[in-house]
Amino acid sequence: MSNESISSTLQEHRLFAPPRAADLGFSAWHVASMAEYRALHERSVREPDSFWAEEASNVSWFGPWDRVLEWRAPDAKWFVGGRLNACYNCVDRHVQSGHGDETAIVWEGEPMGPKTSHPVPGSAYAAEPEIRRLSYRDLQIQTSKLGNALKALGVKKGDVVTIYMPMVPELAVAMLACARIGAAHSVIFGGFAPHAISERAQDAHSRVIITSDGGFRRGEVVPLQTNVEEAVDQLNNLGHIINHVVVLKRTAHVLPSQRFVSGAMRNGSTRFHWWHDVVSRASDACPCEAMESEDMLFLLYTSGSTGKPKGILHTTAGYLVYAQMTARLTFNLIPDAGQLFWCSADIGWITGHSYVLYGVLMNRVPTLMFEGAPNAPRNDRFWDIIARHRVTQFYTAPTAIRTFMKWGDEHPAGHDLSSLRLIGTVGEPINPEAWMWYHKHIGRERCPIVDTYWQTETGGHVVTPLPGAVATKPGSCTVPMLGIDAAIVNEGGEELPANKGGLFCIKKPWPGMLRGVYGNRERFISNYWSRLKDPRTGEPWYFSADGARRDEDGYFWVQGRIDDVIKVSGHLLGTMEVESALVSHPAVAEAAVVGMPHEIKGSAICAFVTLRPAWLINNKREPDDALKKELAAHVAGEVGALARPDQVRFADGLPKTRSGKIMRRLLRDVAAGVEKITQDTSTLEDFSVISKLRADEE
Ligand code: WTA
Repeated sequence: MSNESISSTLQEHRLFAPPRAADLGFSAWHVASMAEYRALHERSVREPDSFWAEEASNVSWFGPWDRVLEWRAPDAKWFVGGRLNACYNCVDRHVQSGHGDETAIVWEGEPMGPKTSHPVPGSAYAAEPEIRRLSYRDLQIQTSKLGNALKALGVKKGDVVTIYMPMVPELAVAMLACARIGAAHSVIFGGFAPHAISERAQDAHSRVIITSDGGFRRGEVVPLQTNVEEAVDQLNNLGHIINHVVVLKRTAHVLPSQRFVSGAMRNGSTRFHWWHDVVSRASDACPCEAMESEDMLFLLYTSGSTGKPKGILHTTAGYLVYAQMTARLTFNLIPDAGQLFWCSADIGWITGHSYVLYGVLMNRVPTLMFEGAPNAPRNDRFWDIIARHRVTQFYTAPTAIRTFMKWGDEHPAGHDLSSLRLIGTVGEPINPEAWMWYHKHIGRERCPIVDTYWQTETGGHVVTPLPGAVATKPGSCTVPMLGIDAAIVNEGGEELPANKGGLFCIKKPWPGMLRGVYGNRERFISNYWSRLKDPRTGEPWYFSADGARRDEDGYFWVQGRIDDVIKVSGHLLGTMEVESALVSHPAVAEAAVVGMPHEIKGSAICAFVTLRPAWLINNKREPDDALKKELAAHVAGEVGALARPDQVRFADGLPKTRSGKIMRRLLRDVAAGVEKITQDTSTLEDFSVISKLRADEE
């Protein structure tokens, strides 16, 4: 973040007091005043055992735990000795307590309106969108059937099942079915390309993939099954055999590759099955496995500063306790109170895991799932959904809010948003302008905004206002969640005075924390636990890789990542992942990727590339716009559309220090337009002058 943006946040003095619960239609706030928050937080950090023991009573156990925490930094074991099941907690217990017929999931498909042209018989040109409501009983039956089907395909407790699906209810069913039978899920966002699937499936030693023939996105069909077929072929070449692929029929578009006979072999080793075939044969009696507290619940891959994504490992009890608590407190979830919670994130990200699924279902509040894009068919789709379904709490990302601002105030203005009681954001710092727009045009100056700071690794919110207790300031994620001992420190572990920028750390373990990077102990330690420690005891502290400051009221202001990852539209991307994709193109000799400020996306990708002269000559090509486009498309094909560089710039050479390190800070300045290149030619940039000047600085 530049100095200018830091000083603009420093000037932010607006304060919004928490509204009264009754004014919004809430029966009460779970935490109703700052004094209550302070007392609870103080106790949660001072007496974590009794605090977390109480929270654990919101979870149903098959067998009691005997110790709250075993902590040998950085290894935590929570609720040691306990036995439980995540699917049971989200589904079966609600059926058993007499709520089986209540709605668990409200789902709306994308195809809608006369302007869509989906090649789907029946749903094409539909005036009304497809809506499905699944009760807890429906989920119980469907997870049981799919659980049995997976067992019949050889999936055992402890296996990792890869899931690559669109936002349809069956995605939730697939995850919960895995949890039901004790398999871990590894969900891969549907926007990723085949290589991203094969890389993750291989790292997770996964042998079964659940996918769909396709998914609807902005009126187009995303060919999910074709991507999986490609990934399966790539894995085959690496000697990693996928035994089974289960395919949900969603788009039913006709692709040549789709003409498989269910159960038939492909590539000599992988069997593809239709979801409806395997499920129709399966019984609907499938007991929930009794898992140990620390058994793996899921892996979720996230980008890091090396080229390879990290499999963030979450376990059963701690994650569930933390997801249910944070969902309840941050969004003021209350069952039987007419609430409908909508988190617009894709389930392929942690936000969807914790706040489309687990945290919300645990609280027995219905969760809304939307399949499509906010501009399909028109730019008001989200507001139309909120109005038609009477959504009470809405949670989205700053990048979406900035997009809505650009589209114009008339889109939300044309809809009745009076059902909303609370709105939230997640994923990146929200600029005060976007916060104010959200407050005015969506929250209608009534709803509190919860700006929630957290990570894939933290499992749930770690800094956020509790809506009935904490006054908000536009752009600040405010104060730590209960149980979170957060601080801003310098490299020596000393806490910094108010308004001094430093490193965001968490000093004590919390139940939702990651338990490891799958198969990579070294990366777990070096990424999160080696930079900061308690200067007195030497005990490692958790470092989030974010820079932040705390103001005179103790409010946190996150400034952004200080490692080599970029937040593009709220999605984390490693610069090395994009660089590896670029150098896999034969024209590219070297590549360096940096983030540059972008009005809507927060950050955009700028790639500096040096070309192979021989390739240009042999292929009769020029370093022109066509080649830039080709390279950008190549990255999208290798990683996924979200990694497509906004700018590709050709350079004669990349600026390096004497020791050969690429001078990224210089490139960031160049990309942001801060640093002018003296000898700029139309296509080729010459960094030699500046690099010489800067060689000693980096
Ligand atoms: C950033 C997403 C400022 C931060 C849940 C973090 C935020 C990274 C906020 C994790 C926020 C998330 N304010 N920055 N409210 N929320 N971030 O793993 O840089 O996809 O480290 O998890 O997002 O991204 P991840």
